[in-house]
Amino acid sequence: MVKISIIGSGVVGSATGKGFHKLGHDVLFYDISTNRMETLKKEGLITDALNQSKKYNLIVFRSTMLPGSMNEEVIDYLDQECKKTRGKDYDVCYNPEFLRQESAYEDFFIPDRVIIGEDVKDSSKLLQELYKPLTEKIIVTSPKAAEMIKYTSNCFLSLKISFFNEIGMLCKEIGVDDRAVSLGVSLDKRIGKYGTIAGRPFEGACLPKDTKALSTFIRKRGWTPDLLKVTLDINKKIEELVTKTALTK
Ligand SMILES: NC(=O)c1ccc[n+]([C@@H]2O[C@H](COP(=O)([O-])OP(=O)(O)OC[C@H]3O[C@@H](n4cnc5c(N)ncnc54)[C@H](O)[C@@H]3O)[C@@H](O)[C@H]2O)c1
Repeated sequence: MVKISIIGSGVVGSATGKGFHKLGHDVLFYDISTNRMETLKKEGLITDALNQSKKYNLIVFRSTMLPGSMNEEVIDYLDQECKKTRGKDYDVCYNPEFLRQESAYEDFFIPDRVIIGEDVKDSSKLLQELYKPLTEKIIVTSPKAAEMIKYTSNCFLSLKISFFNEIGMLCKEIGVDDRAVSLGVSLDKRIGKYGTIAGRPFEGACLPKDTKALSTFIRKRGWTPDLLKVTLDINKKIEELVTKTALTK
């Protein structure tokens, strides 16, 4: 059993904490929101203190962060501000989350893969052990590569949705059943079903924000984010179309 403190117990934090709790670990939740804490308490989870361990700690970041954030901001900050010594008293890892908001807790137990970015070789061993009951597909890489994997995954999903929305518009224009086209294409195992049904923009907490963020990140490097620009433009067009259709009904 491992002692785990979750800081930020929203969608990702509570799914992660509840998941590890179910696997038999000692989990404490903390959140700046008292409402969140009250909700978790009502669910029978202990919530009002962090593990004040004087022993070694592994600090794991799970929020989506642009490539370079861990090394250039988080680790630098800790090295300057933390009285304890990294590599001796604590280590830092980046472990992006890929769950779906609507089924966050269930998704915790069936990850397609677990990505871990470690700054110091083998420092993530404890985290790897925690995930072993859930999957054998654990990829250990650098924090920057782990950050890039998260953005690449989400931006690819956005791109796929926009692509099939464009195909859907073309189907309507030429009088073809777009659902039949989606089904016919998605049964190809290399393509898969997700994002192939046209008619809805990509939305929710992650895809729009992450696609815009990577697009800005590319621009700041002096490039034009060609594919991401088209992805966002098509999404805007679909959003407008959906609104227009809803208003004329
Ligand atoms: N929602 C998803 O489906 C999903 C999936 C994968 C990754 N992510 C990423 O995970 C991150 C978190 O997303 P989320 O959906 O869990 O957000 P959320 O808003 O549901 O949860 C964040 C929680 O952190 C708390 N918080 C904020 N500042 C705090 C502080 N200083 N101390 C303690 N708690 C604090 C908030 O009160 C909130 O409860 C984001 O980077 C998001 O992109 C989200």
